[in-house]
Amino acid sequence: MDYRVLSSLSKSLTPFSLLLLLYIFPAAAATTRAFNLSTITYEEGYSPLFSDFNIERSPDDTSFRLLLNRFSGSGVISTEYYNYGFFSASIKLPAIYTAGIVVAFYTSNVDTFEKNHDELDIEFLGNVNGQPWRFQTNLYGNGSVSRGREERYRMWFDPSKDFHHYSILWTPKNIIFYIDETPIREVNRNPAMGGDFPSKPMSLYATIWDASSWATNGGKAKVDYKHEPFAAEFKDLVLEGCIVDPIEQISSTNCTDRIAKLLAQNYSIMTPERRKSMKWFRERYMYYSYCYDNIRYPVPPPECVIVQSERDLFKDSGRLRQKMKFGGSHSHRKHRPGRSSRRRNRAAAGASSKSGQAAAM
Ligand SMILES: *[C@@H]1O[C@H](CO)[C@@H](O)[C@H](O)[C@H]1NC(C)=O
Ligand SMILES: *[C@@H]1O[C@H](CO)[C@@H](O)[C@H](O)[C@H]1NC(C)=O
Ligand SMILES: *[C@@H]1O[C@H](CO)[C@@H](O)[C@H](O)[C@H]1NC(C)=O
Ligand SMILES: *[C@@H]1O[C@H](CO)[C@@H](O)[C@H](O)[C@H]1NC(C)=O
Repeated sequence: MDYRVLSSLSKSLTPFSLLLLLYIFPAAAATTRAFNLSTITYEEGYSPLFSDFNIERSPDDTSFRLLLNRFSGSGVISTEYYNYGFFSASIKLPAIYTAGIVVAFYTSNVDTFEKNHDELDIEFLGNVNGQPWRFQTNLYGNGSVSRGREERYRMWFDPSKDFHHYSILWTPKNIIFYIDETPIREVNRNPAMGGDFPSKPMSLYATIWDASSWATNGGKAKVDYKHEPFAAEFKDLVLEGCIVDPIEQISSTNCTDRIAKLLAQNYSIMTPERRKSMKWFRERYMYYSYCYDNIRYPVPPPECVIVQSERDLFKDSGRLRQKMKFGGSHSHRKHRPGRSSRRRNRAAAGASSKSGQAAAM
């Protein structure tokens, strides 16, 4: 996976400010369910990453929309870096024609550690006309870009219809990706992973962009700007963790207490009930796993836990034995289960962005 220059995404920088006036935002309500999350405003936690003119903030500043139009995608970044944390937002994805579109919600430090960055990804991959969104999760540690750890999935609902919470928990012990309160993937830190387990402070990013070259049918289905603008909506913004300066050699911030607090939160506890929901999700909605891709990894990476009931569903290519039906299958299925004002110069961050590994997946 390489990081290509954003300018290829931005064909022009013509402001599209009229659009900003045309949208009326629904009032965002802070939700507190089992996770007991405290939400923040955009101003409290976020800064523009690129194409400010395509970022629309709600009047009360509790939600924002990222637009993709023929001129550019757009993106935001957390103003701070976090040394471990919990990153969450309710997201509603564009509907109808989403081929070639990627919406990403991820943590990274590529702007500071260009050669040995860390990253935790949730990437929504558009689909051909009428077909539901798919998504993938992935991680990199200390520049392990040649060792992708992708898993791909469908969802049990239509993510363009309603808001759903998407969360990344990152602790020194493990990583858990959540949709709403269902854990969908857990990576337990295995000492054999070494630097491949993300361990340097990261920022949270949210972006929408044109990935026509790889995202859908290997690049055959491209973004159709007849349907522009494409808008991804974000609310219930949560950034929890130990705020640090990533380039201090010896951190003046002692994160011990903050990390202990993080580990004590409801979302950090993997209960038997949650493990059951995770199994439920993975057996029904996962359609690719690097852990089962024995062609790519004859010996699965050390953190892989081979679950036999899952393994049986996959071929040696890491893909499902039986072709998964995409069309409409999610519609009838019910789900069971103050910051520092210091603004770092994000120019460097704006110059690099995610681009996909299309590879053979
Ligand atoms: C999380 O909070 C919910 C609601 O308060 C509670 O029912 C549940 O037992 C808690 N889970 C854990 C692991 O603490
Ligand atoms: C929920 O969070 C608030 C503020 O962070 C805290 O005061 C309260 O004790 C928490 N409630 C539970 C049930 O953990
Ligand atoms: C991370 O990468 C840097 C530079 O390549 C290297 O010096 C360092 O030892 C690595 N750290 C870990 C934990 O592997
Ligand atoms: C950080 O704080 C904890 C407890 O608050 C303390 O035990 C520990 O020694 C501190 N570590 C450093 C490096 O200051």
